[in-house]
Amino acid sequence: MVTWIFVEFDEVDSTQTIAKRLATDDAPEGTVVVAKSQTSGKGRLGRDWVSPEGGLYMSLIIRPYNLSRPELVTLASAVAVAQGIRRTTGLSTAIRWPNDVMVNNRKIAGTIAEAEFHGHDVTHIIVGIGVNCNAGFSGMRGLQEEATSLGEESGREVDVSELRRTILDSFSQAYGDLQSGEDTMLLWRKHVMTVGKRVLAKLKTSEEPLSCIAVNIDPRGNLIVQRDEAATIIHPEDLEWLREET
Ligand code: BTN
Repeated sequence: MVTWIFVEFDEVDSTQTIAKRLATDDAPEGTVVVAKSQTSGKGRLGRDWVSPEGGLYMSLIIRPYNLSRPELVTLASAVAVAQGIRRTTGLSTAIRWPNDVMVNNRKIAGTIAEAEFHGHDVTHIIVGIGVNCNAGFSGMRGLQEEATSLGEESGREVDVSELRRTILDSFSQAYGDLQSGEDTMLLWRKHVMTVGKRVLAKLKTSEEPLSCIAVNIDPRGNLIVQRDEAATIIHPEDLEWLREET
């Protein structure tokens, strides 16, 4: 299990930026940068992550040694968030591949894993986790339809520090399984709602979104899709967005 060391702030630009700086200055594995709010929270592909007070925003430093599949850390973090939410609030969530945690088709949390390499070796990974807890999105253009919060979904105020604890416990377990080479995919795949659905996937490499059926997640965490009888593999880093086709 990882021993967590907390570095806490009221407001920062981005916990991800601070954790990256600390990691470069040799902060140990298990360092967690937490903030009550962020002025410049970052999501995948440089998107903004709206971070008002009342949410959970944290970035964890891990230093995996000899991890055969570091690319699975993103999925591990999304599964840990889903499990933590379940344990703290009783709410069921599902992962929209690769890293969106969803309730009723609206996004409640997101994770990001940014690795730093020395040659081919990973020196550290910064895992960023943002959960919409007690701040709602009503009146925020674009977000009102796309995003939701635990408070809104459960009708109750969420204990953010309890949620932080359950997510970190679950992540520690998942990361331990990855380090020891456990085959976790069977369990993790069950959390991914994308599998089995007809989806539109917009890739960086093409103008038009790909209409296909998501058939599986491979052992490296990539999405296998089928189109006109042919199977294609989508890597998370090639994806701009994905939505279910209605
Ligand atoms: C995504 O869904 O695109 C990932 C969102 C990750 C947001 C978290 S909030 C804590 C950490 N600090 C950041 O600036 N981003 C991550």
